[in-house]
Amino acid sequence: MDNDVVNEIRKNVDIVDVISKYVPLVARGKNFFGVCPFHDDHSPSMSVSKDKQIYKCFSCGATGNVFNFIQDYENVSFPEALKILADMAGISVKGLDVKSSKRDVHKSLYDIYDVSSKLYINNLNTNYGLGAKEYLHKRGITDELIREFQIGLSLKEKDLLTRLLVKKGFSNKDMVDSGLIVKSDYGYSDIYSNRIMFPLYDVSGKIVGYSGRIYNGEDTSKYINTRETAIFKKGEILYNYHRAKESCRKKNVVIITEGFMDVIRCYSVGVTNVVAAMGTAFTKEHVMLIRKLARDVILCFDGDKAGAHATFSCINLLLEYNITPKVVRLEENLDPDEYILKYGKDKFIEKIDNPINIMDFKLSYLKANKDLTSSVDMSSYVNSVIDELKKIDDDILREISLKKISEESKLDINFLRDKLDSSTEVKEIKPIIVKNDSIDRYDKAQMNLIYYMLNNDEVVHMYDSSVNYMPNDVYRKLATYISCFYKENGFVNVSDLMTYLSNYDGMREAVSKIIGLNLKDEYTKSEINDYIFVIKDYNIKNEISRLEVEMRNETSNEKKIGIAQRIVELKKMEQERSYD
Ligand code: CTP
Ligand code: MN
Repeated sequence: MDNDVVNEIRKNVDIVDVISKYVPLVARGKNFFGVCPFHDDHSPSMSVSKDKQIYKCFSCGATGNVFNFIQDYENVSFPEALKILADMAGISVKGLDVKSSKRDVHKSLYDIYDVSSKLYINNLNTNYGLGAKEYLHKRGITDELIREFQIGLSLKEKDLLTRLLVKKGFSNKDMVDSGLIVKSDYGYSDIYSNRIMFPLYDVSGKIVGYSGRIYNGEDTSKYINTRETAIFKKGEILYNYHRAKESCRKKNVVIITEGFMDVIRCYSVGVTNVVAAMGTAFTKEHVMLIRKLARDVILCFDGDKAGAHATFSCINLLLEYNITPKVVRLEENLDPDEYILKYGKDKFIEKIDNPINIMDFKLSYLKANKDLTSSVDMSSYVNSVIDELKKIDDDILREISLKKISEESKLDINFLRDKLDSSTEVKEIKPIIVKNDSIDRYDKAQMNLIYYMLNNDEVVHMYDSSVNYMPNDVYRKLATYISCFYKENGFVNVSDLMTYLSNYDGMREAVSKIIGLNLKDEYTKSEINDYIFVIKDYNIKNEISRLEVEMRNETSNEKKIGIAQRIVELKKMEQERSYD
């Protein structure tokens, strides 16, 4: 993508206008503030700078320019974000290609899924599909739902898809890489046969896998999910994400279930803000996706013991990222699918509208197999509740829960409160993107130098002509990028620089951290020279210790002498510098 086009688009949109479309912003001083959409934020911790055209969340560290915001919020690729912003700015850009690179690289895999999906859907509509249709209809999956969720069927023949793909010219490698075809001693054949095929989608709604369900009892495993491939990562997708996105954001609630059948059933009764993980434990990536959907999270897992267990773990994962979900528990071990079929839509919606808080769930979960008339069980119960209370920040919820266990255990509430307080460490919110390490003298010199490089051509020149090497990896790269950016564009602009840095891990965050130093605007050359001095000092010290190790490992005496000489020179240099 042409850099000029990118910068042109960026110049024509104002980050404050753009972010306001998603998050209400209020002006405070020079900046605007809003509730950060990238974590469970209750007070506005995201600041948006009109001057610098960047945003930054002080709580979770999310940061970037307007492209980064759109990419992360809408979950789209860079070209897609460009397109969205070009549209907003009313700029028409010729040849703006909205294909993401991942899609280009793995184009044949996506194509294989297109072909397979058409085949499976078609199969279900033939005479061979009558049994499967009947099964689906019996479960209340109407033809309309079959169409919406693109449900299909793999037939008994084990090479139907293979032959079709060969005919269409796909390579053996791509066929195998897709996860739909397997190679054996007898040649290539389909993975799926005689199963109802539920397509699985990535966040943008492309089919990237299947869950195939038995329907006439001829196999032992109920579902077979596609193995992980280059385009299908179970830990990174949520079933129905792309369909649920809009309604989650409107309601600001996302409901999470365990199975995709639950999602389909909820959808059929008009509860559309529902997603599910694909039979895997929740991951950090899942949490990131959930965070983007809505502020409130409701866990509505299966009503059985396994579901309670999964609820418990999921709550604790979410708490680590500062999300406090609510919980719905269904009676009689039912899953949401079964519950809706048995009790109807209204009863289900009533449950969803009245979720319980996580502590009430945990209290009943923790006393499940305990006999609270036994003091051994009671003491272990009280201790485990206190452990769970340490994980939450909500002091009202803590107080209410303390009161409950005080009543149950007949222990004085002050005693329980003291016990909790004495064992509570300050809870650290897991930074999602960047962590603030302690800053030493050398870090400080590097950061300050970069701070001024960001705003002053002169400092970039000073860096280029004298240092050219920063000890810290991140700062070294950053300084190099700034210097290159300057050479290419003739100026440095923080927001455009962010676009330039977006492909490099951690760089945006580093820029943001440095800007956050808020140093005074003016500098003197001698201050800059001081920073450079400190950095060089470090480099010399570093080089000396590197040489000392080299010398120790060197076996040839002649070479040892050579190294020793260099060390002496460097030490002399170090000393002379300190007399300056
Ligand atoms: N799952 C799986 N493999 C299995 C069983 C389950 O991958 N052998 C995954 C599927 O993603 C499924 C989820 O775990 O959606 C929940 O499993 P389960 O509760 O057993 O499925 P249900 O949603 O109840 O499906 P059904 O009603 O068709 O039995
Ligand atoms: Mn079920």
